Amino acid sequence: MNPIINRYRKIFEKEMGIDTVVIMNTGVQDPNFYYFTGFRSSLFEKCILIVKKDHSYLLTYDLEYQDAMRQRFNGIEIIKMSDEQKARKLLLKEIRGKTVGINGEFLPLNNCNRIKESYKPKRLIDISRSLADTRMIKDNTEIANIKRAAKITKRAMQLIQKHFKVGITEVELARKFDEISGNLGSEGPSFDTIVCFGSNAALPHHSPDSTKLRKGDIILIDAGAKFNRYCSDITRSFIFQKKNDDDYRKKKEMYDTVKEAHDLALRSIREGMPLSRVHYIALDYINKKANGRYNGKFIHSLGHSLGIDVHDGPGFGPAYSNINAKAGMVITDEPGIYIKGFGGIRIEDDVLITEKGAVIL
Ligand code: GLY
Ligand code: MN
Repeated sequence: MNPIINRYRKIFEKEMGIDTVVIMNTGVQDPNFYYFTGFRSSLFEKCILIVKKDHSYLLTYDLEYQDAMRQRFNGIEIIKMSDEQKARKLLLKEIRGKTVGINGEFLPLNNCNRIKESYKPKRLIDISRSLADTRMIKDNTEIANIKRAAKITKRAMQLIQKHFKVGITEVELARKFDEISGNLGSEGPSFDTIVCFGSNAALPHHSPDSTKLRKGDIILIDAGAKFNRYCSDITRSFIFQKKNDDDYRKKKEMYDTVKEAHDLALRSIREGMPLSRVHYIALDYINKKANGRYNGKFIHSLGHSLGIDVHDGPGFGPAYSNINAKAGMVITDEPGIYIKGFGGIRIEDDVLITEKGAVIL
């Protein structure tokens, strides 16, 4: 069966009470639009996708009709918005008096109100949780895409090191990283590349600025690539031109602690265990290490789901005690230690959960 139609079925299995799913793009594309069409070309701004159990309809504007027709597959019907009668008839047939699922995490209230006023559904239901749960389990094509994106980023992390030079700024290094990643086949960064030197590394989401690299600095780079729209998200931390002094030893101890927490979490993952437990394994290790000096210095969740979005759904965090690890999930493993005014270390890999444990992509 077409893997895309299989996705429709999965949603209707999770949401037994709905008649129709409506995915409505705004000026930006709902990530579920790509998930349910696989259409890589064109923006499809403000287009509407109506998903049923084993087929779908796409209402598109004239400017993207040709592109939609070129990418269509068995099971999707393309309708021009300019064919007003046909479009309205379809919307009324699929929405009026029906229980309609929408992505409440994406669709603005204004659009929901417009659907209600114009087409009078029986109920609009937020199915964002089921969409996220379905997208959490990746098929082989999705895994291959993330793996390819991760390969690009890991290679770029190697190549960037020859540009580590005293005096280069964070912005310059970030730009260089994006160039290398593009040359390796990335469709674009999966988020704005993070480069931190020295004490800036204590800020997990620091934006690169004019800070210059100095001998002995920590260099933290957190970056991702896109391949077939799927994201990677990888962090590496380096100590630049190590000096054999206390400052270096402190940074090295932080690095070794984060690396061990990362590996420990990876080794502990088993199908069926709550995702939150993996987070606490890394957290407890860091909190207890070095006579408690790092207690409270790991200030975020261990990881997030990865896919069409870089934060693609639930992951390894305290909030997810009710979601169990399952083969096919791809989640980041990214412990860190952050010490204000001194620096930070984070190590991040993209991890596929399998029936036998977890592997780095
Ligand atoms: N790479 C940024 C983040 O995971 O938040
Ligand atoms: Mn991440």
